[in-house]
Amino acid sequence: MSRNIIVLDTTLRDGEQVPGARMNLQQKLAFAKQLERLQVDMIEAGFPASSRGDFEAVQQIARTAGQQMSITALARAVKADIDAVYESIRDAHHPFIHIVLGTSNVHVEKKFNRSRDAVMQMGVDAVRYARTLMPDVQYSTEDASRSEFEYLWQTIEAVVRAGATIINVPDTVGYAEPEEFGHLIAKINDRLKNLDDRVMLSVHCHNDLGLATANTLSAIRAGAQKVECTINGLGERAGNTSLEEVVMALKVREERYQCSTRIRTEEIMNTSRLLTHLTGLDVQVNKAITGENAFAHSSGIHQDGLLKDKNVYEIMSPEQVGAGEMELVLTARSGRHAFKNAMARLGYTANDPEQLETWFARFLELADRKKEVYDHDLFFLLSDTEEQEQ
Ligand code: KIV
Ligand code: ZN
Repeated sequence: MSRNIIVLDTTLRDGEQVPGARMNLQQKLAFAKQLERLQVDMIEAGFPASSRGDFEAVQQIARTAGQQMSITALARAVKADIDAVYESIRDAHHPFIHIVLGTSNVHVEKKFNRSRDAVMQMGVDAVRYARTLMPDVQYSTEDASRSEFEYLWQTIEAVVRAGATIINVPDTVGYAEPEEFGHLIAKINDRLKNLDDRVMLSVHCHNDLGLATANTLSAIRAGAQKVECTINGLGERAGNTSLEEVVMALKVREERYQCSTRIRTEEIMNTSRLLTHLTGLDVQVNKAITGENAFAHSSGIHQDGLLKDKNVYEIMSPEQVGAGEMELVLTARSGRHAFKNAMARLGYTANDPEQLETWFARFLELADRKKEVYDHDLFFLLSDTEEQEQ
């Protein structure tokens, strides 16, 4: 039986931290609505203590979010931040507070300049306080993947005893690699089940080594129940785990993972395009799932194979992610089969093999000049050629 994986989208918090990705209130509300259409389970709507604008945006999102979606926002382990989160999300149908505090030596010694015990106590006090305000509290052990395991575990144990209901294990600087991260999550999962099996185990990965999706999938196989992601992988530095990649990997390889999500995958492309439109940040053309070329086939051999049977070169259909029909971009490497297919789509059929050869030769001349030949180019070429022939 398939295990349900909870998806939290943090585009409006981790994604919005990216230079140039700032959105105004109306834009954030529009994006949150689209996340609801996509059917994400949880949204991290912002960091309310960071500015008045962020507070108001989180509050509006919380007030307008539907029944199906939980809303959270980020707090450092200090009372003022927790109060700001509480005030901004309290009107949501399902609010929960998210507290973050580092567990690696470099965080404890350099960022806080305190003893390990003192830092752990800050976390425990923060969770205890948050629990007086709300029944659900997520605790993130920042930089978990570079932390000494025993201290990491002691912290998790202490904050769970203090009332944390979700433990989120971040690979904050994208340092982990899949096998290692999977082992870490498996170890935490085993101990957590014995400590309190009602606590949800979550992961949050960054993409500094291009491994965020692989690490997240490895964590799922090791027992993680919840994943934190962003649309288009937007986020600090090289970004966060890309939601569309994890969701589609689970879908395409469901037999292997035995896991699924509630995401309406046909809304993926709309969500990605809306984000690009709102932030002005383009998606790299060859980005998996949401890149412009993700479903475009240009080599003649591939186009020929696809026209015989889509399964030859396609592991998922563009329609599944709302990307419209498969696009065969014609280039000088496209063969006669793809050319004839494009002609037929535009309503042209050659009268005989000789005419086809003439048209194909003209197409190759154009493709040499233009590199990519789109339907409208082909249409003008064919109508010109037809006129000259008459
Ligand atoms: O990367 C990180 O560690 C974070 C935490 C707030 C979860 O973004
Ligand atoms: Zn992060």
